[in-house]
Formats: sequence, structure tokens, C-alpha cells
Amino acid sequence: MAEVLIIYGTREGHTAVVADHLQRPLESAGHVVRICSIDDAPTCPIGYDLVLIGSSVHQGHHPKAMVRWIKGNAEQLNRLPTGFFQVSLSSAGTGGGPDAAQQYVDSLIRATGWHPGVTGCFAGALMYSHYGLLKRSMVRSIAQSAGLGTDVHQDYDYTDYQAVARFAREAEALLYGLAPSASA
Ligand SMILES: Cc1cc2nc3c(=O)[nH]c(=O)nc-3n(C[C@H](O)[C@H](O)[C@H](O)COP(=O)(O)O)c2cc1C
Repeated sequence: MAEVLIIYGTREGHTAVVADHLQRPLESAGHVVRICSIDDAPTCPIGYDLVLIGSSVHQGHHPKAMVRWIKGNAEQLNRLPTGFFQVSLSSAGTGGGPDAAQQYVDSLIRATGWHPGVTGCFAGALMYSHYGLLKRSMVRSIAQSAGLGTDVHQDYDYTDYQAVARFAREAEALLYGLAPSASA
């Protein structure tokens, strides 16, 4: 039984939903999971056997608080089994698509010096119900150009939860010293 820490950074809540989907299989496997937002994160990851950190992308960036936390703890994180999961619409085909999603991950790794054992890039959600007028029309036009949902009277969830479950299994395998077969 391992102690697992999952930290997420979110604006509209979708990365918290993805984090919940990681928590469940890890708990079912018998591990003790602490899940918290970056605002409630412990100052350091000492005492945990596996640390998973996830964040959404907004206007090309991960949350500043998340980048700061990772940078400040990079040395300890690099000594532990760790994983990073990213939630974005690039992974659903907007902007530069999967290549852009991977670039966000690469730039986080460069900026922090953290080298997660597994990484996962997941498509996010269009949460029209959470956006104000300006954001709604901006996001709608981005969605339109990528062929995603444009009905602002509903939200759209593009996350592949089977890929999330695969990522949970790959992350858990790190506890037993097993190399990931392939990242999501
Ligand atoms: C204002 C705004 C800006 C966004 N900028 C980006 C972006 O630059 N790149 C990207 O891939 N996705 C972008 N997204 C999509 C979000 O990453 C996606 O909606 C994700 O599900 C948000 O997760 P969260 O609810 O956890 O914050 C943006 C979304 C919004 C609303």
C-alpha cells in the first residue's frame, strides 16, 4: 500500500474531474490517495511514494502557482516516482493540436527541471456554462475552427477516460520499478 499525492491546477474545474478519475483506480488498487488543488498542496512531497501533478493550459500557459510549486520541489520530485498529466484543447485538435500539447509539456519540463516518469496529454472540455460573454465568444470561435462543439447552451467533455485509466496504471507501475509501456 503506497501513499499517493495528486495535485491539480484548474480554472474551470475539468482538471479536478480528471484527477478524480486517477484517484479511483489507485484507491481500488489499495493505495492511500491524497488529492488536492495547487492552492491546498503541501509545501513539499516528502512522505509520499508516488506524486501525480496535473494542470490545464490557458492561453499557452500552466498556472503560475503550479509551475512555482514544481520548480521549488523539483529536486525531491526527481527522486520519486512521479507523473504529469495535462488537460488542454490542443489535445482535442485546436491550435497546433497534439504537437502544441507536447510543446506545453516540454516547456514545463524545461522551466522547472522536473522529469516526470510518465506524462499524459488529455483532451479537455468546453465549459461554456462557466464562461462570461467575452470568453464564451472567443472560445466558441476557436472551437469552431477545430470542428469542436459550438452550442454555447451546453458543455462538451472531450476527455478519453480510458486513456486516463491507462495513465493511472502506468503511474502505479512506477511504484514497482516498471518502465511505462507508452505514455498517453
Ligand atoms: C480562456 C481559455 C484559454 C485557453 N487556452 C488554451 C490554450 O492556450 N491551449 C490549449 O490547448 N487549450 C486552451 N484552453 C482549453 C483548456 O485547457 C480546456 O478547456 C481545459 O479543459 C480547461 O481545464 P480546467 O477546467 O481544469 O481549467 C483554453 C480555455 C479557455 C477557457
